[in-house]
Amino acid sequence: MFEQLQALPADPILGLSAAYQQDTNPLKVDLGVGVYKDEQGNTPVLSAIRKAQQRLHTEETSKAYLPPVGPAGFNEQMQNLIFGADHTAQQDGRVHTVQTPGGCGALRVAAELIQLAKPGASIWVSTPTWANHVPLLGSAGLQLKEYPYYDADTQAVNFDAMMASLEKVPAGDLVLLHGCCHNPCGTDLDQGQWQQVAELANKNGFTPFIDMAYQGFGDSVEEDAYGVRLLAEKVPELLVASSCSKNFGLYRERTGAISFMGSNATNADNVKSQILKVARGIYSMPPSHGAQLVDIVLGDSALHQQWLNEVAEMRERIKDLREALASALASTADFSFIPRQRGMFSFLGLSPLQVQRLREEFSVYMVDSSRINIAGINQKNLAYLADSIAKVL
Ligand code: LMR
Repeated sequence: MFEQLQALPADPILGLSAAYQQDTNPLKVDLGVGVYKDEQGNTPVLSAIRKAQQRLHTEETSKAYLPPVGPAGFNEQMQNLIFGADHTAQQDGRVHTVQTPGGCGALRVAAELIQLAKPGASIWVSTPTWANHVPLLGSAGLQLKEYPYYDADTQAVNFDAMMASLEKVPAGDLVLLHGCCHNPCGTDLDQGQWQQVAELANKNGFTPFIDMAYQGFGDSVEEDAYGVRLLAEKVPELLVASSCSKNFGLYRERTGAISFMGSNATNADNVKSQILKVARGIYSMPPSHGAQLVDIVLGDSALHQQWLNEVAEMRERIKDLREALASALASTADFSFIPRQRGMFSFLGLSPLQVQRLREEFSVYMVDSSRINIAGINQKNLAYLADSIAKVL
């Protein structure tokens, strides 16, 4: 029965890592998968996480199942990180958080939950959005629709076009928003724009669904939560998918969470039970190691501060690299938009052919859309990278 299935091409993002590994050019540059790298090109275990790991190693007494909700402390800490401990929605008992296997798990659980609430519901995603949003949400049966977001000519959000499109989203549809550090374009809404989106959601009755995968990589852990916290004040219901892959460096530990805010505490309790049923039907319970580490870090004031410092260090390094790349390319073309953007990603604005030439002739790897992972740049490869880009332009 499986003979009819054909081999598929490699994943457009993850496939780049395998191709890069096989490349024998000593000058090769990896700007593909969104993974933070330090100046030496390593993706470090954060020191706060390493200390938490040592503590967990000593103190963990059992590997028995945890309940499908995941570690209670983790869920509470994540909720405080996203919504703020004193947010009125939290105090009213209208928010629940359930650990998931990574941010992908959160997106998929949310999609299945939406299917239960409203089969075949429409969810509006930005153009462009993270490529994996499409299978994660679409395979659950949701209808994906698009709203304009990034303007390649101005390298900024086309906010008028976005709002004109969102104005037509009917009550009961969902709108997926990137909480900060938009993947793939690095261009975020400012506070005034978040206000307008929140007012429109409230007026027209669509439900915001926020993907929060890079909290702390934009301006700060607190400032990056502005949009989600504002929406949680203005609208009756929302969903947040969060990830600890980047800001805790826990990529392979698959640590994320789905948070639901309901219009009242009873509704929030009901929906939590549905989320747990969805999780039970897919993977039963999430892997606990990463979540326990996050719980330890956020629950210990010294480790919490050390983690904030490490997130700031990653964020500042990326900001410095944005400046460095724009100046290295200044004599080639105007790339001054790169330092204005936030998070790991920016589009270089190259054609697929130019991206292909960079890969084949210069061993410079990036997604076909010319999305680059800024964190893959370092002082050793910067000049070669700028020179290679200049040669294909
Ligand atoms: C990315 O966008 O590169 C990361 O989120 C990794 C992934 O799974 O695609």
